[in-house]
Amino acid sequence: MKINNNFLDLKDSYLFSTIAKKIKEFQAVNPGVKVYRLGIGDVTLPLAPAVIEAMHKAVDEMGVKETFQGYGPEQGHDFLRNAIVDYYATKDVKVSSDEVFISDGAKSDLGNILDILHPSNKVLIPDPVYPAYVDTNVMAGRKIDVAKGNQANGFKPMPDENYKADIIYICSPNNPTGSVYTREELKAWVDYANKQKALIIFDSAYEAFVGDDKLPTSILQIEGARTCAIEFCSFSKTAGFTGTRCGYTVVPKELVFDNTPLNKLWNRRQCTKFNGVPYIIQKGAEAVFSKEGQKQIRANIAYYKENARIIHEALEQKGIWHTGGINSPYIWLQCPKGMTSWEYFDHLLTKANVVGTPGAGFGEMGEGYFRLTAFGDRETTLEAVKRILENS
Ligand code: MLT
Repeated sequence: MKINNNFLDLKDSYLFSTIAKKIKEFQAVNPGVKVYRLGIGDVTLPLAPAVIEAMHKAVDEMGVKETFQGYGPEQGHDFLRNAIVDYYATKDVKVSSDEVFISDGAKSDLGNILDILHPSNKVLIPDPVYPAYVDTNVMAGRKIDVAKGNQANGFKPMPDENYKADIIYICSPNNPTGSVYTREELKAWVDYANKQKALIIFDSAYEAFVGDDKLPTSILQIEGARTCAIEFCSFSKTAGFTGTRCGYTVVPKELVFDNTPLNKLWNRRQCTKFNGVPYIIQKGAEAVFSKEGQKQIRANIAYYKENARIIHEALEQKGIWHTGGINSPYIWLQCPKGMTSWEYFDHLLTKANVVGTPGAGFGEMGEGYFRLTAFGDRETTLEAVKRILENS
């Protein structure tokens, strides 16, 4: 018996587990000290009333013989797949319900999709980036190259025509930098991928934070994307489902590689390895798209965006270089006084009792930077910002 020794190439611990461990250690030696958390991008507002009501109703249905649900379709219930089709229509994107696959969150499917892609594919991943993209490819032993983000390119690396990639990751609005690709920039990636016959793995988990209608919220809004991109989205940040778990993956039928439609392969993979998201959760997710649901989730997003504005203004006032936070819940700042990311993390934790996420945890290009999230509650955000300013 041999293990998958690619796992030995991973860092010892996943970024957010390392941070959680550090906070625990700090609290063990500083009992009673309140820690202000703007680290992991976890929501703090409760689920919208429309979602709760739909889930309560679904719970009741499960207790009645006539409405009880056993195994659901592996791809998700039609009521939710159709609601997502209608949501895409509001973005002027035409998708069919059999291109939409319901999942337990974008993170799972971003990893699972690799099942249907050959391990020999060369992967291009932006740096800095959400660490799960790198880790899941390391686990499969794939060769990874990075597209470097920096202040000069606004943390939005663009394709290099001389470089050949098979799989390209794009997250926009970006985690961790909060930068958002324009339509023209995404079109350049789509053209590059089509020319290279590469696949774009597009993570749109933060699409609901885009307020500027000139900016794209889906790669499928870009001409040519249907032959080169799979889109992964989630209810986590849009509707507070981080603890509830539901997302969706859109696999256009025009995606054909090695004469094989990826939609068919993904469907095959899901039928074998996945038994669907619980009916009660899918009913809650469906309610996100109701008139009331949309009103309520938009109010929550506006609350988080106000947090982002507060953080942005404070950093501006202090003259700390930063980006993001306008069409995104993340603010990406340069660590003051030349500190490294982890030095600044330790400094803020011990001196200000504030937790953020070290930029170096998102890749080498993140060294010297730091991420703050707008998902905290208002009180925490205001107090954390005050403490950051006093200690930076
Ligand atoms: C983050 O903080 O980057 C996110 O919460 C991670 C995630 O969505 O899994």
